[in-house]
Amino acid sequence: MTARVLDGKALAATVRGEVAVRAAARRARGVAPGLAVVLVGDDPASAVYVRSKTRAAQAAGVEVFDHKLPATTTQRELLDLVGRLNEDAAVDGILVQLPLPAHIDADAIVNAIRADKDADGLHPMNLGRLAQGRPGVVACTPKGCMRLLAEGNVDLAGARAVVLGRSILVGRPMALLLTNANATVTVCHSRTRDLEAQVAAADVVVAAIGRPELVRGAWIKPGAAVIDVGMNRVDGKLVGDVEYAAAAARASVITPVPGGVGPMTIACLLDNTVELAALHHPA
Ligand code: GUN
Repeated sequence: MTARVLDGKALAATVRGEVAVRAAARRARGVAPGLAVVLVGDDPASAVYVRSKTRAAQAAGVEVFDHKLPATTTQRELLDLVGRLNEDAAVDGILVQLPLPAHIDADAIVNAIRADKDADGLHPMNLGRLAQGRPGVVACTPKGCMRLLAEGNVDLAGARAVVLGRSILVGRPMALLLTNANATVTVCHSRTRDLEAQVAAADVVVAAIGRPELVRGAWIKPGAAVIDVGMNRVDGKLVGDVEYAAAAARASVITPVPGGVGPMTIACLLDNTVELAALHHPA
């Protein structure tokens, strides 16, 4: 079997198109959706991500409020900025790019963002709502993974799903989304024993551990769905967490790196932003 490749770039373009229509409708009524994008310091990868997010937002008709702060910014200064953005009626969503410099407590910053402006879905209130199976803002990358699984017509009810990674950004919310979709979910991480056996039993594999090609193609159960969140730079090339070619020879559907999950993260950020705009300015 050779897997069907799930084209995240094309699906993201569709989602961004839907967002643009909703943003235009809001603009026509006089209120453009607004997204504040905060970048602290000069991590080159973060700068690239933030530029992509800003461009995509503007192209979709979302107003972007850019805040680039030096690496020497104090926690107090960043908290003050978040406080001002929380109060600013033009700002529907706030994104503080992670990671933050080591002297800043990232949890304290994320917790300070108003839950109804948390475009990233990382605030404890939104993660808590997800854990309760109630509506809230869903973290962008896992939301994008769920859209890709839907695009691949992957039947999640009763499926064995294995999530590799337990981060707040991806692994934990991903496990909750899959649970809410009636999958039977196992979360694996750096201390998991016999990862191969866990992966080999899985109908759905979501890899988000940040280790190039850790998941070997031969581990994949024939016919499984494989979603690769990894973005590892190896010799100047982007490589996923899954050994792609060998996995694609066994899977039913698979996401490439690049061009799979990455573009969906950005599209879902914009989707979250227009959702929050609708919450702040009901029709
Ligand atoms: N760093 C890597 N991915 C993300 C993301 O989705 N949101 C934020 N805020 N920071 C990130």
